[in-house]
Amino acid sequence: MQTPGAELNLDHSHVLNENASQARVIDTRDLTKIYTLGSVEVRALYSVSVSVKRGEFVAVMGHSGSGKSTFMNLVGCLDRPTSGTYLLEGHDVFRMSRDELASIRNKYIGFVFQGFNLLARTTAVDNVELPLIYGGISSEQRRERAEAALQSVGLGDRLDHRPTELSGGQQQRVAIARALVNRPSLILADEPTGNLDSRSSDEIMKLFRDLNESSNITVVVVTHEPEVASWARRIITFRDGIVLDDRAAAA
Ligand SMILES: Nc1ncnc2c1ncn2[C@@H]1O[C@H](COP(=O)(O)OP(=O)(O)OP(=O)(O)O)[C@@H](O)[C@H]1O
Ligand SMILES: [Mg+2]
Repeated sequence: MQTPGAELNLDHSHVLNENASQARVIDTRDLTKIYTLGSVEVRALYSVSVSVKRGEFVAVMGHSGSGKSTFMNLVGCLDRPTSGTYLLEGHDVFRMSRDELASIRNKYIGFVFQGFNLLARTTAVDNVELPLIYGGISSEQRRERAEAALQSVGLGDRLDHRPTELSGGQQQRVAIARALVNRPSLILADEPTGNLDSRSSDEIMKLFRDLNESSNITVVVVTHEPEVASWARRIITFRDGIVLDDRAAAA
């Protein structure tokens, strides 16, 4: 696999030039999410205050039901909290309208999911182009950027393969290319290795680490598995909706 980010030529100049390597990409204050089901209240997240600086590589851990996905969905602007605030790249996102939120999300965040979420009958390069379709970019440029993104994840020779013609690890790399194609400052991945064997898991985590190191992209990965988490440099552990532990990963 080539060095990710090199071919992709990720344009993070807007990010690097602001002379704020310590800038906070994620800054949550007292985020609380309560689900009400009939008369039962589920406190999925309670008063969570977490800051993540530019260029960090964070793993989020915790038992099933501890609030990891709830946290990621809020940080990803896919959901709104019951209370609390969240600054994404300094933007107070929960004050925004739905449309503003969608455009902020599109600009700053690339998502990677456990199930890859690729269109089944669509080639790798067409899958990767999808996020660019509403961006007012010419079709040649879309193709160029999608190809570069696929090259950066080591799939330059699989452009026209459909998901069924790729291994699980390769499908996840297509999904990562799709997440990168909009040049986000933040990658959010919820159990990205959950459907992969341990060798493919390692490849995916190495890819995240290479991307993180080569282009300073901020990465937050949810995982159950300590081996997967050990690729990150910081590990945040949730329990029952609160942050139980937040520490540097063992070197
Ligand atoms: N839409 C919902 N409606 C009601 N309760 C919910 C909803 N989503 C999550 N919950 C509850 O909130 C709590 C936290 O769920 P969450 O999905 O964040 O856990 P998780 O840490 O991601 O778990 P897992 O490791 O199983 O994915 C759980 O008790 C869950 O049952
Ligand atoms: Mg979850």
